[in-house]
Amino acid sequence: MGAVIAPSILSADFARLGAEIKDVEAGGAALIHVDVMDGHFVPNITIGPAVTAAVRKVTALPVDCHLMIEEPDRYIDAFAKAGADMISVHVEVCRHLERTVSAIKDHGVKAGVVLNPATPLESLSEILPEADFVLLMSVNPGFGGQKLIPSVLDKVRRLRATIDRLGLSTRIEIDGGVTKDNLEEVAATGVDMIVAGSAIFGSDDVRGTTQAFVRRLAALAQQGNRV
Ligand code: DX5
Ligand code: ZN
Repeated sequence: MGAVIAPSILSADFARLGAEIKDVEAGGAALIHVDVMDGHFVPNITIGPAVTAAVRKVTALPVDCHLMIEEPDRYIDAFAKAGADMISVHVEVCRHLERTVSAIKDHGVKAGVVLNPATPLESLSEILPEADFVLLMSVNPGFGGQKLIPSVLDKVRRLRATIDRLGLSTRIEIDGGVTKDNLEEVAATGVDMIVAGSAIFGSDDVRGTTQAFVRRLAALAQQGNRV
């Protein structure tokens, strides 16, 4: 199976959030990506458990909460109760990463580990078998609409090779700067989930753009992911 699309609601029109989510759902999105920022780990402040709970009510799709916050352990329970199906935490802020990953799983939620662009894959070596997914940032976190950092594509390829060599089922997600122009190149790395925020919600036709992305990924998967 090819990669799936996870629209990031960070670039959605928050006054019409329910309708925006229905549009990406109708376009074939596989997940709803929720970017949670605290103004400490990253310079921006965004969404918390209350809005996540509202998202949960309007969609049947898995809700994927990307926590860009200090001390994520304090909020796992709140996001799980808000209805998150997936919660990812940054290795850069977790002192006891194994404990945090276990706490997420104890809530029956898929646990993800996130690396900033400059954080090496080596930091995953002990936790990889425990993680349900790894999120590789392809921009420095904090804002939508930034440009993809190209070296991250090789990082995805290397992680794909490691996961396959170890026979793990860990899924890989990439986040930041994916556009219609680099979608195929990103998908060809062997990534499983592709986050796209401004490329989808910044377009004139949210549903049509989602559908176009989904179709292009399906076509690419049929060709064996060659670009
Ligand atoms: C960045 C967020 C991303 C971002 C993606 O800190 O984690 O999810 O919103 O947005 P685009 O696709 O616009 O880079
Ligand atoms: Zn994100």
